Amino acid sequence: MASFTIFLLSLLTITTHATTTSLYLSPKTLFPNYNNMLNSFKIFIYAPPPSTTPTLFTTPQQSHFYTSLLHSPFLTQDPNHAHLFFLPFPSSTSTRSLARHIRNIRINFPFWNRTLGADHFYLSAAGVDSSSDRNVVELKKNSVQISCFPTPSGLFIPHKDITLPPMHSFQLITPSVNDVNGVNVTYLGYMKLTAGQTPSNLIEEISDHPEFIVEYEPVSKKENKKEKYKNSRFCLFVYGSDMTWMVEAMASGCVPVVITDRPIQDLPLMDVVDWSEMAVFVGVNGGVKGLKRVLDGIEKSRYERLVESGVAATQHLVWNAEPQAHDAFHMVVYQLWLRRHTVRYARWVEQ
Ligand SMILES: *[C@@H]1O[C@H](CO)[C@@H](O)[C@H](O)[C@H]1NC(C)=O
Ligand SMILES: *[C@@H]1O[C@H](CO)[C@@H](O)[C@H](O)[C@H]1NC(C)=O
Repeated sequence: MASFTIFLLSLLTITTHATTTSLYLSPKTLFPNYNNMLNSFKIFIYAPPPSTTPTLFTTPQQSHFYTSLLHSPFLTQDPNHAHLFFLPFPSSTSTRSLARHIRNIRINFPFWNRTLGADHFYLSAAGVDSSSDRNVVELKKNSVQISCFPTPSGLFIPHKDITLPPMHSFQLITPSVNDVNGVNVTYLGYMKLTAGQTPSNLIEEISDHPEFIVEYEPVSKKENKKEKYKNSRFCLFVYGSDMTWMVEAMASGCVPVVITDRPIQDLPLMDVVDWSEMAVFVGVNGGVKGLKRVLDGIEKSRYERLVESGVAATQHLVWNAEPQAHDAFHMVVYQLWLRRHTVRYARWVEQ
């Protein structure tokens, strides 16, 4: 197993404070409903397509989700007791093989035809592309897709699909009061880019601005990096680029700022937490001036709330080697649980 997050349970205490109401979309129903899930949720797994490569999944968060599910109490051997059906297949599966696989599922089991796939789900790192094949169309339109965040544009269907939070190993640095109050803050915003990433005009403007700091990975002096992002009020991310350390930033009290040219619909835990309570979303068009205006305009009380909610939300976004209550694995399963009441289509007589 690769790297896993080191996570301190002390964070749990934060969520019980008054701010809870603003972090969750439905704070009253979330935990009772979560407990119902623990007691009742049953998932049936189909066998992967034959002649599949030994590694089904290529990203660590997918593999981890899959392994955790296989070892979880949510599985059932009896499909008649299942709320949802899981179709494992490698992300590299060609559209043709996928179509054949779904056709076999349709012919060999009674479950697909009942809902045309709506009570089925699958993992696909970058999302399944559209196709004219009926089987793939039904998979894409009806089944719940679990992809990795961020998902390429057009390959995610809001309200139906789910993303896996990024997996990144980090050591939790609990933010100090000074950090939160901005006493020791050197920079307004910190941005980390992967080596070789072509900077856009906006990134160049940000690099040139004295209140922002942009560094390229790998950052040579590790200590240096830590200080710089710890001493920044905001951590900047361009939506779609490498956002793997966003959760790490939140955990250490650096408020994520997501720079985007369109509304983001594929945030992890989108129907559990209120992202506007822990991150700031800024358009690209205002340039660095617009960015600075938005960040400067955030009042102290709101900033403190953003930090606190972000730190509190970390527990739901981290992957633990052994899944723990309310962690990323369980919250993704919870989102599946929310999707168990699927539309059951009337039987159509085909022409
Ligand atoms: C599901 O419906 C298709 C026609 O759309 C049919 O060919 C297939 O046999 C059905 N599957 C089962 C298990 O009855
Ligand atoms: C903030 O600055 C003060 C004085 O320079 C220092 O003693 C303190 O350790 C700093 N706090 C942090 C969190 O860096």
